[in-house]
Amino acid sequence: MKTTTIFRTASFILGAALVLFAPIGCGSKTQAPAPAENVKSGGPVIDVSLAPTPPMGFNTWNKFGCSVDEKLIREMADAMVATGMLEAGYKYLVIDDCWQVARDASGRIAADPQRFPAGMKALADYVHGQGLLFGLYTDVGPKTCAGRPASFGFEDIDAATYAEWGVDYVKVDWCNADNLDPRVEYTKFRDALRRAGRPIVLSICEWGRNDPWTWAPGVGQLWRTTADIGDSWESVVWIINANSRLYEAAGPGRWNDPDMLEVGNGGMTRDEYKAHFSLWAIMAAPLMAGNDLRNMTEETKEILLNREVIEIDQDPLGVQGRIVIDRGYGGQVWMKPLADGSCAVAFLNLSSKELELYVRWAQIGIPAGPARVRDLWAHKDLGVHSDLGMHFDQRFKATVPPHGVILIRIRPGP
Ligand code: GLA
Repeated sequence: MKTTTIFRTASFILGAALVLFAPIGCGSKTQAPAPAENVKSGGPVIDVSLAPTPPMGFNTWNKFGCSVDEKLIREMADAMVATGMLEAGYKYLVIDDCWQVARDASGRIAADPQRFPAGMKALADYVHGQGLLFGLYTDVGPKTCAGRPASFGFEDIDAATYAEWGVDYVKVDWCNADNLDPRVEYTKFRDALRRAGRPIVLSICEWGRNDPWTWAPGVGQLWRTTADIGDSWESVVWIINANSRLYEAAGPGRWNDPDMLEVGNGGMTRDEYKAHFSLWAIMAAPLMAGNDLRNMTEETKEILLNREVIEIDQDPLGVQGRIVIDRGYGGQVWMKPLADGSCAVAFLNLSSKELELYVRWAQIGIPAGPARVRDLWAHKDLGVHSDLGMHFDQRFKATVPPHGVILIRIRPGP
């Protein structure tokens, strides 16, 4: 027998043995990272029911800033239905800063009467009538970031007002609050919402200043981990880097929030937006669209409405994916185990040159042997790839465009 034949036979036998005796592979629940310290026994009770998977929707801030009014919100609600965004899972329509102007004599918050003449209750009814859920913005300090009246000292009356209007989601900011204790303030807000008696998602927006991943689980369902996103590749890379380290804190009912999406706002290339969206999905991030949904290009729709990528984000196992290989020159391989035993793998190219990236099954917890691979952007099965853990050539290869991503789903087995 020739040496190569002996080698091949030996590899085959060893590979087959590995397949038989390998531990359960990628996606096994045993691979989910342990919850953060404060979520372990004795930690806060996490109400999973409000956000079992990362919240999805639309928020006005990234595109419209303070230019919000009821006409825009109604049109956006219509667009969420007409474009298929709602059907794809984007269900919260959230008005960010600048909807509020004053408090009346009883301390009740008032919406801008010029911009919202029909009032928030009527607007919430309209949004609900479209099958969507309705969200508003406030701040734990005395004023919002745009200088509007905020909730400090008015937590109960605001929570009760929101409940009366039919609010389903509240984003609570951190401007003018640096002398306050975030844990105390956001817990106060959570308790006020509970007393108001309506299930309302609490989106903590404290920008990661006081390590919210250590105290926010059980207080809010999601918490911002960084300062504001911008519509640029530099911003996306910087946020991915910061958010990547926090994967242990995330899980059903408790999500790291690397900020809202910029897809479709014009500042990045198609590949960059695809990488932005893919990484948000791999990191189990909330998916809040931040572009004008009334006039999306085909390219923007192709990204925001990619069901196979959304499925990765919304996977019920609720594990935030993490970096498994980090090449110094800008190539990263990310892995997110999924509930059905498969896993999502993203090959991310942060550099400005095309890169070849590789992964071995052993590096992502897949048993040695065959596995089926699907490309989630090409929407194409790539067939069965076998990595028996032997020759280097058995690794899975991806050619990744500059500032781009290849996103695949791997199912162990033939
Ligand atoms: C802060 C938040 C943003 C947005 C603005 C509104 O900067 O982080 O997401 O809500 O305030 O003023």
